[in-house]
Amino acid sequence: MTLKEQSILVAGGGSTFTPGIIMMLLDNLDKFPIRQIKFYDNDEARQKQIADACEILLKEKAPQITFLATCDPETAFTDIDFVMAHIRVGKYAMREKDEKIPLKYGVIGQETCGPGGIAYGMRSIGGVLQLVDYMEQYSPEAWMLNYSNPAAIVAEATRKLRPTSRIINICDMPVGIEHRMAEVLGMKRKDMSVRYYGLNHFGWWTDIRDQEGRDLMPKIKEHVAQHGYVTPQELKGSEGEEVEASWMHTYEKAREVYELDPTTLPNTYLKYYLYSQDEAAAANPDYTRANEVMDHREKMVFSECNRVTALGTAKGVTLEADDHASYIVDLARAIAYNTKERMLLIVPNNGALVNFDPTAMVEIPCIVGSNGPEPLVQGAIPRYQKGLMEQQVAVEKLVVEAWEEGSYQKLWQALTVSKIVPNARVAKQILDDLVAVNQAYWPELS
Ligand code: NAD
Ligand code: G6P
Ligand code: MN
Repeated sequence: MTLKEQSILVAGGGSTFTPGIIMMLLDNLDKFPIRQIKFYDNDEARQKQIADACEILLKEKAPQITFLATCDPETAFTDIDFVMAHIRVGKYAMREKDEKIPLKYGVIGQETCGPGGIAYGMRSIGGVLQLVDYMEQYSPEAWMLNYSNPAAIVAEATRKLRPTSRIINICDMPVGIEHRMAEVLGMKRKDMSVRYYGLNHFGWWTDIRDQEGRDLMPKIKEHVAQHGYVTPQELKGSEGEEVEASWMHTYEKAREVYELDPTTLPNTYLKYYLYSQDEAAAANPDYTRANEVMDHREKMVFSECNRVTALGTAKGVTLEADDHASYIVDLARAIAYNTKERMLLIVPNNGALVNFDPTAMVEIPCIVGSNGPEPLVQGAIPRYQKGLMEQQVAVEKLVVEAWEEGSYQKLWQALTVSKIVPNARVAKQILDDLVAVNQAYWPELS
């Protein structure tokens, strides 16, 4: 059977992840053939640096694919099958503020968690809704695979404000952790079948089996109890893909997160909620993850793209396929060719977690086919997880209500309910600082 060739729009063409996605798409053309790739961004100069290099790369590796980069929504969104969206409204300059402002008050500042994630959510909602609206206007049959963060808040906003839109919100963290589990087991990630539930960046594995149905949890747990998600290879210090120190800390910390409930295996992001004071104490208020990303990933990606453009050839290019991102191709393939692949996605609960808010956006396994995701029931969840998730889902829903209503009061409540924030007074101090720097991005609050 010949597979229909696809037309892809990368929204956020200027993202540091764009070249990795392109390399990954090029690696998968036999499984997911492409006739056209377009880039869309609202920062022309930033996107151009990535686009010029990707154009050279595509010409050399897959000249049959037509390519264009634009800031014009109609040109971008017309004749598209899939929008792969990864925008960062406010870019790293605002991420830096999200991370540093809470730290002034001794509270952890993080891209997607706590006050930083709330501030980012207030910026992202409008940006992502605009992408959805362009897609519906110019390519109403298309699907948006969105990984613009904070995915939990963005997903709640699209559920509530664009209930019929063809957007699927996704995250690479479970896939990344499963890769690490697979290394512990000495097997391939795709040979593992998992049960998992939670909110985005807030979940637990409850069951992991191989293709014969054998329980793999005991062996993984034994490893996590000692080393968290640091892999055996990393423990040996053998060469491989280099992981930055801040991420290594996160993988190590999973050991302590696991101790809270040794019947499950946790998502790494839970450390920000369960050990927020430790994280705040360990942070450098003058140099946060945003600085690290600007100094490393952003510099590396942009200088390599500019080098390719200056040379006029991609020969010897050091940009690599984003391996974790291959799940985006799996998802697009599942929809395009009805593969019925089982994947973790962020979807409306609707009874999948039977004792949890049916309107919450939850991250659970789904079977994906041409009609989109079909969620798999994960049953009743225990009190520990339910309590944590109810608190966190209230934060996410309050942020969306605050955005919709322009309500300062609800945003203050959202910060106060967040487990990361110690009390309502600190919540207000942080909020007032965040309001002051987000004027250009947030709706006006009253
Ligand atoms: P980046 O700043 O390098 O790229 C984001 C791009 O989006 C920029 O070029 C910017 O100009 C553009 N942009 C901002 N607002 C826009 C708008 N309204 N319309 C069009 N374009 C707009 O950021 P990055 O570090 O490469 O990350 C990109 C996004 O991907 C972030 O949201 C990040 O959190 C997300 N991400 C998510 C996952 C996940 O698990 N879901 C994984 C990795 C990255
Ligand atoms: C993981 C998460 C993403 C998050 C990213 C941050 O991949 O799943 O949601 O955006 O980490 O990585 P960074 O390198 O930008 O700090
Ligand atoms: Mn994520």
